[in-house]
Amino acid sequence: MDERPHFDSRFLVGIEQVDNEHRRLFEIAGRVHDSLGADSATAASISRAAVAELLDYTETHFASEERQMEAAAYPKLEAHRALHRDLISQAREMEIRAETGDYHMPLELNRFIYAWLVEHIMDNDKKFGEFVARVAAGRYTGED
Ligand SMILES: [Fe+2]
Repeated sequence: MDERPHFDSRFLVGIEQVDNEHRRLFEIAGRVHDSLGADSATAASISRAAVAELLDYTETHFASEERQMEAAAYPKLEAHRALHRDLISQAREMEIRAETGDYHMPLELNRFIYAWLVEHIMDNDKKFGEFVARVAAGRYTGED
C-alpha cells in the first residue's frame, strides 16, 4: 500500500489522451509519494506543492475526460461526473489538512492517492474505454 504509484499496462483504458493524462497523474503522485514522511519544513513545503500540483492536474484531467465522454455521448457521463466531483472534494479536504500542517496524514494521503488512481481507473475509466471500443466496432447495443 505504500508502494510508489507507478503506471503500468494494467491501467490502460485504450484512449490515448486519457492514458497519457493518467501517466502524468501517476508521475505527479510518485513525486507526492517521495515527498511524504520527511519532517523538515522544506520537505513539508515540497510536499504541499506536489499535492497542489496533483490536485490541479486532476481537475484538468477530469474536465478533459468529461469532455471526451460528452463528445462520445457516453451514457454514464453523469454518474462518472459525480464520482469525479466526490474525489475532488475529498482531495481538497486533504489539501486543507496538508496546509494546516496536519502531518501525520502522509500514509492516509498515500492510501487515498492509490485508491483514487488505481481504483477509479480500474473500476470506472476502463468502462468508458470499453464503451468507446464497442461503439467503434459497431458492437454497442445500448444496454449500458
Ligand atoms: Fe474518470
